[in-house]
Amino acid sequence: MLLPAPAPAHPRARCQGTPPAAGSRKRQRRAGRFPREARHAPRPFGAPRTAGAGGEHAYGSTGMSESARISSSATAWDGMAREYDGDRGHDPVYVACVRQAVADLEPCGRVLDCGCGTGLATPYLHAAERIDALDFSARMLEVVQAKFPGHRVRTRQGDVRALPYADRSFDRVLVANVLQHLVPADQLRAAAEIRRVLKPGGRYAVTVHHFSLTKQRAHWKKQGRPGSHDGCDYIFRYTCEELAALFPNARIRAVGFYRWPARSQLLLTRLAGHWLARRGHGHMLCAYGTR
Ligand SMILES: C[S@@+](CC[C@H](N)C(=O)[O-])C[C@H]1O[C@@H](n2cnc3c(N)ncnc32)[C@H](O)[C@@H]1O
Repeated sequence: MLLPAPAPAHPRARCQGTPPAAGSRKRQRRAGRFPREARHAPRPFGAPRTAGAGGEHAYGSTGMSESARISSSATAWDGMAREYDGDRGHDPVYVACVRQAVADLEPCGRVLDCGCGTGLATPYLHAAERIDALDFSARMLEVVQAKFPGHRVRTRQGDVRALPYADRSFDRVLVANVLQHLVPADQLRAAAEIRRVLKPGGRYAVTVHHFSLTKQRAHWKKQGRPGSHDGCDYIFRYTCEELAALFPNARIRAVGFYRWPARSQLLLTRLAGHWLARRGHGHMLCAYGTR
């Protein structure tokens, strides 16, 4: 598979400034010029099942409910292992997100696919010498083992908040769509763990759900039970600033524009992803950088 050349890490990538206040004319004008990813079919992954804007109101207020204080559980993900590939595997935004993250990662040497799920991202890591696939869900890991029976992909059950690897073990760490299932205190632990297991000069790529302007306007929850995939018990949607705070030296791209055709997803993110992220657009965010 041909993957595009990644942009070099650069400190300027950090999000600058805060978007204008909700409802301001400036913000509305700006938003009108860009894709509004949540309006078009297929239903974005992580979106409310209930129809119409603000569907997540059906799941309660945006305040701190019980589910907003506890990170996602392994049991919940065990229950989703069988259906997971059917839900995600063909979603153009999901595929673009993973491909871009891998392109920014430049896989080589020993790579950790951290929170690997069913291994949807694993084939994109083929340039690595060795792939370690970690997840805390035993059922997810069973799917990975069935897909990649050889020795090149080594699965391990473990928690991203306390990774079962020695310091400086990996040349690359991919964390695709995992941190969004941790509460903020756990996100900090996980970010420290990702840095700890990377070799000096090693690269990481982390993708998360974006709390985009479109979602804010449609009153999607900031955090809590998402009401999307049956069984997913917690999601945290990041602003660009929040992701930059977790990975201060990272560059951040917006990825995923449901209004755009599948073939344009990668082009758009490569041409304008950094700029779009700073302005609150895109279904997902991808942070990438070097330890
Ligand atoms: C949305 S899936 C993403 C899977 C895969 N990376 C992908 O992009 O398709 C989230 C995965 O993170 C795993 N996960 C969530 N919290 C975790 C934790 N604290 N430690 C390890 N894995 C975790 C879940 O079991 C699940 O497989």
